[in-house]
Parts: sequence; structure tokens; C-alpha cells
Amino acid sequence: MTGFNGTPDPTPETASAKDAGEGSFRFEHDGERFVIRAICPEDAAAHAAFLARLSVEDLRLRFFIPTKSLPVKQIARMTGVDHEREMAFIALRKNNETAGAVRLIRDAADGTNAEIAIIVDAAAKHKGVAERLMHAIINWGTSRGVTHVNARILAENLPMLAFVRHLGFTLKPCADEPNIMQADFDCGEDQPVPAG
Ligand SMILES: CC(C)(COP(=O)(O)OP(=O)(O)OC[C@H]1O[C@@H](n2cnc3c(N)ncnc32)[C@H](O)[C@@H]1OP(=O)(O)O)[C@@H](O)C(=O)NCCC(=O)NCCS
Repeated sequence: MTGFNGTPDPTPETASAKDAGEGSFRFEHDGERFVIRAICPEDAAAHAAFLARLSVEDLRLRFFIPTKSLPVKQIARMTGVDHEREMAFIALRKNNETAGAVRLIRDAADGTNAEIAIIVDAAAKHKGVAERLMHAIINWGTSRGVTHVNARILAENLPMLAFVRHLGFTLKPCADEPNIMQADFDCGEDQPVPAG
């Protein structure tokens, strides 16, 4: 991957992550180490454990529905990504625990527009995990022709609104959906967040 100023991670990548044409990158926050890499089918069990650790409230903010757990089929779909249209990156902390995930889905028309969604485990918040994940996925998208990304955010989700504003997204209410804000970002040569 280009444009992400992390150090290449010395741990072996999974075959699936290699198939996706992605490397892995690491960063530290106050001595805590994280690795960012593409998700792959072998991550299904760790991803289920990650989702199980998340609060009902964070799951609602991410998926817009009150849920305690997601069906196995959906988790398989989340980890077995169709790389033509979609990508997901995860952040791993010690013991290879998943600490955060970001997903980008390109539109069916010409793939230049994409929707992004992200979630970070409570214990990993405010450590720069979401920022690194966003940077990685926007780099992935722009390298494949994505020129515009958007996110749909519940209007009450002030932390996420503050986060995307910090990244340079613009915000507007969604037409006909007063409880949802749309965040937009035009991808250019400049990335929305500083690398590394
Ligand atoms: C919103 C969310 C993804 C942020 O994740 P995070 O890993 O804590 O964010 P980062 O640490 O990378 O934040 C980077 C910067 O964004 C800004 N930021 C992040 N969270 C913020 C908050 N709650 N309030 C204000 N600014 C915030 C800050 O400038 C921060 O830098 P700083 O910590 O040096 O001040 C996380 O809170 C989350 O998962 N929320 C629940 C799920 C959700 O709402 N998903 C969105 C679905 S559309």
C-alpha cells in the first residue's frame, strides 16, 4: 500500500490479505502497538469476538439498529470481502485482538463514489485507531479510482461527527432523513489525515 507512513509489519500476512494486494502497517500510541491490515476470511472468529465486545450503543451507532450480536452469515460476509467493490481494514492490538474496523463499499455505477463506515472498540478509542483506519481505506479507494467518499451518520452521534469534521469531511442533513447526517469528502492528491 502506498501513502501510509507506517512501518511495514514484520509479521507474516495471511494469504488472503496478500490476495487483496495489501500490506500491513503498524503504529504505536503511548507504547501500545497496533497493526492495520486488510480483513480476510480467517479473521471471522476474531471479528465475531470483536463485535461481541462492542457495546450495544456503539453497535447501534454503527449499524443503525439496536443489536446485541450479528448472525454468523453476516460476519462471514464482513470478513470474506469482494475486493472488486469493497474493502475492509482492521486494527489489531496485542494477542491479535481486533480493536477496530473500517469498511468501504463502492457504488455499483462506476465505482468512483464509495460509502465508508467505521467502529472502534471502547478500549482503543482516542488512540488514533480510527484516523489510521480511515487513512488506509481512503488510500485503498483512491488507488482504485474512488474520487468521493461519504458516510451516513446518526445526527445524535456527536463523536463521529466531530471525528469526520476533524478529517475534513463536510456535513449536511440527509434529504428526507432528518435523523441522519451525510458526511462527504472529495479525495484528491491530499489525504484527509496526516500519515503515520
Ligand atoms: C467515532 C469513532 C470511530 C472514533 O474512533 P477513535 O479511534 O476514538 O478516533 P481517533 O482516536 O482516531 O480520533 C482522531 C481524532 O478525531 C477527533 N475525535 C475523535 N473522537 C472524537 C470525539 N469523541 N470528540 C471530538 N473529537 C474526536 C480528535 O481530533 C481525535 O484526535 P485527538 O484524539 O488527538 O484529539 C469511535 O468513537 C467509534 O467507534 N464510535 C462508535 C461507532 C460509530 O459511531 N461509528 C460511526 C458509524 S457511521
